[in-house]
Amino acid sequence: MKNIIRNIKGTKDILSDQTDIWKYLENFIHNHFSKFGYKEIRTPNFENTNLFLKSIGDDTDIVTKEMYSWVDQGNNSLTLRPEFTASVVRAYIQHKLGKQTKSHKLYYIGSSYRRERPQKGRFREFQQFGLEAFGSKYPEQDAEIIYIIYSLYESLNIKNLVLKINSIGSKESRILYKEALQSYFKKYEKKLTDISLKRLKNNPLRILDTKVDFEKDLVIKAPKIIDYLNEEDKDHFNKVLTILEKLNIKYTIDHYLVRGLDYYSRTVFEIQTNSLGSQNALCGGGRYDYLVEQLGGDPTPSIGFAAGLERLILAMGIDTAALNKHPDIYIISLGDKAIEFSMKIANQLRIEKNLIVINDTLKRSLKSQMKDANRLQVKYALIIGDDEIKNKIFCLKNMETGNQEEIELNKILDLF
Ligand code: HAM
Repeated sequence: MKNIIRNIKGTKDILSDQTDIWKYLENFIHNHFSKFGYKEIRTPNFENTNLFLKSIGDDTDIVTKEMYSWVDQGNNSLTLRPEFTASVVRAYIQHKLGKQTKSHKLYYIGSSYRRERPQKGRFREFQQFGLEAFGSKYPEQDAEIIYIIYSLYESLNIKNLVLKINSIGSKESRILYKEALQSYFKKYEKKLTDISLKRLKNNPLRILDTKVDFEKDLVIKAPKIIDYLNEEDKDHFNKVLTILEKLNIKYTIDHYLVRGLDYYSRTVFEIQTNSLGSQNALCGGGRYDYLVEQLGGDPTPSIGFAAGLERLILAMGIDTAALNKHPDIYIISLGDKAIEFSMKIANQLRIEKNLIVINDTLKRSLKSQMKDANRLQVKYALIIGDDEIKNKIFCLKNMETGNQEEIELNKILDLF
């Protein structure tokens, strides 16, 4: 093949025979989130790099390895957003949204960018949808967030959902836990990777998120945060679990779930399904009660989650092309006069009857246009030539049954 320019590794073209499922799901998500009173927010695709360093955390894989960052002509360090939470929090603070109402509930859909190794369900540009609820510190808010995404997956018939949940406590609880982790992992100092050694000093919770097999074996025997939670954190976590039970949502407590971003506190969760292979996380989220303050706002308890659209489509396991809408009518025009005439009728059918109507603009033969109508799987073909215009009677072919009838123009409109 000629040396053509291709798309960047880890990105994808969603071709026109695949876009209907995307539109369907995007609409579904808009409707679902709106029903819970969440309003859409749209933020820029790129931000000051500092925003992500200060929120996601210097030690995380996202910040150390995966960000698309560059310095622009004005010497500003910019980054394509690797996630939305930091941007939404920035906008929340910048536009003083907390002053408008005590509880602010926002959702989003759009591209995120991470330079990860591409594989099934993992891309470098991917679509995230998610939401962020600002203002409530109560466990009911945690349960609402989890219910919203769990019920979305259930409505879309996603099977074998596994909700993994943990509490990583407040700052206070984590002081003692950090020490316990440090003294545990210190025993294995010689075995740890350089990255974990660095994390051992500053951020030992990060080691629990290791992807290295022998470190994972060490993690299984590490102290559990649950044993270090203070009474308030324990109560909060237990209340979240009780509400989930009342909502009939099954969960598994995963004592070592810490998530790959540093801003979390208290509840963290992921929903997985076994149909995705190794990239099995459909979504993930948690509380981030300190982040708004950390980025310069007033202290605001908050919680949210984000989910991957590509992974949702994979988990649905459907033939995405089979969902495409087929046109209602293909107008086969024979001759210049017929094309002009058929364009007018087509518009009438579109406006008055809301139909999808195709006009041939290649001036092809009857046979070629009929072939094209078949390829597009249209419901009806309407044949128009000079005689038909003169006699005002047209030939309408039902492409499913093969039946043909002679029909007057106004009757065609009545048919639909
Ligand atoms: P995250 O776990 O990094 O969380 O990403 C959320 C979801 O995005 C994942 O569960 C997965 O479905 C999808 N995802 C992540 N990376 C990729 C990728 N490379 N390719 C395809 N899909 C991917 C966050 O982003 C947090 N901001 C979630 C949050 C919101 N926490 C609180 N509020």
